Amino acid sequence: MDEFQIDGPVRLAGTVEVNGSKNASLPIMAAAILGPGHTTLKSVPHLSDIEVFSDLLESTGCKTDRGSGDELVIDTSVIDNPVGSYEIVRKMRAGICVLGPLLARFGRAKVSMPGGCAIGDRPVDIHLRGLSALGAQIELRNGYIVAKAPAGLRGREIFLGGSFGSTVLGTANVLMAAVLAKGETVIESAACEPEIADLANCLNKMGARISGIGSPRLVIEGVSELHPVEYEVIPDRIEAGTFMAACAITGGEIEIVNCRLNDMVAVVDKLRGIGVEVEKSSKGCVVSCVGRLKAADITTQTYPGFPTDLQAQFMALLSVAEGNSIITEKIFPDRYMHVAELNRMAAQLRKEGPCVFAAGVGGLFGAPVMASDLRASAALVLAGIAAEGRTTVNRVYHIDRGYERIEEKLNLLGAKINRKQL
Ligand code: EPU
Repeated sequence: MDEFQIDGPVRLAGTVEVNGSKNASLPIMAAAILGPGHTTLKSVPHLSDIEVFSDLLESTGCKTDRGSGDELVIDTSVIDNPVGSYEIVRKMRAGICVLGPLLARFGRAKVSMPGGCAIGDRPVDIHLRGLSALGAQIELRNGYIVAKAPAGLRGREIFLGGSFGSTVLGTANVLMAAVLAKGETVIESAACEPEIADLANCLNKMGARISGIGSPRLVIEGVSELHPVEYEVIPDRIEAGTFMAACAITGGEIEIVNCRLNDMVAVVDKLRGIGVEVEKSSKGCVVSCVGRLKAADITTQTYPGFPTDLQAQFMALLSVAEGNSIITEKIFPDRYMHVAELNRMAAQLRKEGPCVFAAGVGGLFGAPVMASDLRASAALVLAGIAAEGRTTVNRVYHIDRGYERIEEKLNLLGAKINRKQL
């Protein structure tokens, strides 16, 4: 289990390149199941979550090959075990999104019910409701979701909203099932996240007929088969937002290459509101700040609102802004494991229900802290590079799930992070 030893404070400067999106890559890897043959994906990041998902595909009978650079080739010609095992899905909840494509291609699938996770309960009831609406018979047996559609799936109008709004992977699952269903499917309250739009664009390239991409109403005209494709995944907006917050917390100036500002309007708006300059450049954007940042209120929402996946990093940032901030988590109300750790670094954060009140402090102080999940770990790294003295972040395997070589990238910008292998 590696740890990061971080010496601060530093001011970040230079250029950093963002990888392809993790959360777009995962469902697109699942989509490859729908087009038997060799699908070549480009800009797939080198992350442990991608490796686990590749293991999952291999366990069904697919073959995966990292190819060169950021390429990933998935051969889905032969799938003889349409099962997502507990051993794999328990490591990564996104494994649930093989359910829709396996069911659509084989008329049956068995996928482990994901368990709880550090950021909340994360049920999958809406996924199952959507697949049932398409005609699947679904049973829960021995911890597994067993889905059958012997006569094939049929298009329907489906409402996919839940108490917390739309669901990202739920939309992915139902969309991937609907592309091969007979007739027309209309998904209302579909997730509008850029990662879902990317999945839909990839499916259309594979021969699907999806319209309304990027909107909450997806209309899918079922087709009888899809074919493999070559497809490039979009840049990771959460990695880009993490570097923006890293720059801001250190009062630095950096250029972020391979960053689509159009996917990040709420984030950029919030940064500008607290005194950070974000300007488009030919390769991405330039982020800079002068003087102390101002407090802000942030509420996480589904896209195009402020993303929950940047809540922890922005909490680290607001903990040193001038004045009082309020952060409200509307997607995962319990996603606050980083609060107590940031307080160990002398932040003044007080949690009340789904809100955290941050009284901005003049500076943070390094301390040993514990990473609890991917984005919480990123927040602790950001706090560490801005804090006075040494911060030790334990359990950095969490961060390796979603950030490729984050310490190397930050070190190139002037951070002092040493990965210690224990
Ligand atoms: N929900 C339900 N029932 C369902 C599905 C979801 O009640 O059947 C609830 C969830 O509990 C939550 C809300 O709906 O309160 C939204 O959850 P969603 O289903 O959208 O989350 P997800 O699809 O499981 C993806 C990302 C997460 C990201 C969320 C929200 C991937 C692999 N994961 O999860 O990413 O936080 O959308 O944007 O795409 C991360 O990268 O760190 C991460 C956790």
